[in-house]
Amino acid sequence: MNSINLTRRELMMAGGGIVVAKLGLTSPLVGEDTQSTAKDLIFHTTEPRNGEPNLTQLVQSWITPVKHFYVRSHAPNPTIDINQFVLTVEGKVKKPLTMSLAQLNRLTRRTITATLTCAGNRRTEFNQEGKVGGVQWEAGAIGNAQWSGFSLADVLKMAEVLEGAKHVWFEGLDKIQRKESIIPFGGSIPIEKAMLGGDLPGALLVDRMNGQALTPDHGYPLRTIVPGYVGARSVKWLGKIVVSDMPSPNHYLAHAYKVVKSTDPIDWTEAGPIYRYPINGAIASPEPAATIRPGWLNVSGYVLPTGRPESKIRRVEISTDDGLTWQPAKTIGQSSTFCWQLWKARIRVTRDTQSLSLRALDSSGGFMPQSVPWNAKGYLQNSWYRLPVKVTRR
Ligand code: MTE
Repeated sequence: MNSINLTRRELMMAGGGIVVAKLGLTSPLVGEDTQSTAKDLIFHTTEPRNGEPNLTQLVQSWITPVKHFYVRSHAPNPTIDINQFVLTVEGKVKKPLTMSLAQLNRLTRRTITATLTCAGNRRTEFNQEGKVGGVQWEAGAIGNAQWSGFSLADVLKMAEVLEGAKHVWFEGLDKIQRKESIIPFGGSIPIEKAMLGGDLPGALLVDRMNGQALTPDHGYPLRTIVPGYVGARSVKWLGKIVVSDMPSPNHYLAHAYKVVKSTDPIDWTEAGPIYRYPINGAIASPEPAATIRPGWLNVSGYVLPTGRPESKIRRVEISTDDGLTWQPAKTIGQSSTFCWQLWKARIRVTRDTQSLSLRALDSSGGFMPQSVPWNAKGYLQNSWYRLPVKVTRR
């Protein structure tokens, strides 16, 4: 990475108040209270950090507080010297760029609210059919936040994209041990998505989450957010952008994050990378295996429409008899493009009820099916969400 000299003013502009307060420190400039602990998230691993909130906690608000926002990292958080940090833009561009945060800050700031979800959300549900490896996510690998930063399209326009550009690669500054080599996390998105500008950019280069500097867990000092795509495309600790005529060769685009029936090489080669996420949802309350009485019951949760700009939730329904009959749920709180939708329902539970099921439908034709075929890496589980309950006799 190139070394740069920033003026005090540039440093002050670099990341808002929190950065200013601790000029010159090499560690990420956030308070300890912004690092989620075991009381905020259920950690599946701590080195690297992988944790999700308890679902009841998760649906308390439409905007997910940073401390309750799931964390998914493949390696320990990198140590980044803010004084040295630059973003490079290279490849099929007329003017390669090396940009400090201060230089990025001269671009128009764009702020969006969008849901981020891991392709492995609800992975554990595949285990009933056959054990899948990887982080054992329940339904909490999802969160909705306000993201603020700069439009990727604005940066690419500055760099002047050349003819023949088809994909935009992102590369993180983390170091992931894979067999004998150490690689960064990376991926790419199609150029058409990358060049979408305006109020709803195809991708943002983000330095703030919910109004504060990104925390180390979420990619400080800079990450991408690609609304509508699975979380893996939103590369954290972003250091490099490459414009290319082919998709990124990085492991996490070329091999991982694919829906494959087996881990045979032919399956990997045949399968394409996952970009958009499908509709999904979960019941957050009551808690799993809760003991409830027959009669009326309050139920709540989230649904996320398919990752397309025009997608809106059309219907959310709950079944107490494993899909024989369905009772409607009401969407509550805010609705916005690329955001989840919270819902609640008051439903009749009978003595025979053994589980509650959730299904939903959106305006782009996405629906939660009764079941999805098992896949070797446990991605895109979006079948009816089934919650076991115990109903007392009276
Ligand atoms: N970026 C880097 N550099 N390293 C990573 O391990 N994980 C990806 C993505 N970006 C990852 C990354 C995955 S799989 C997901 S789901 C999201 O970051 C999670 O973002 P979060 O930890 O801010 O919730």
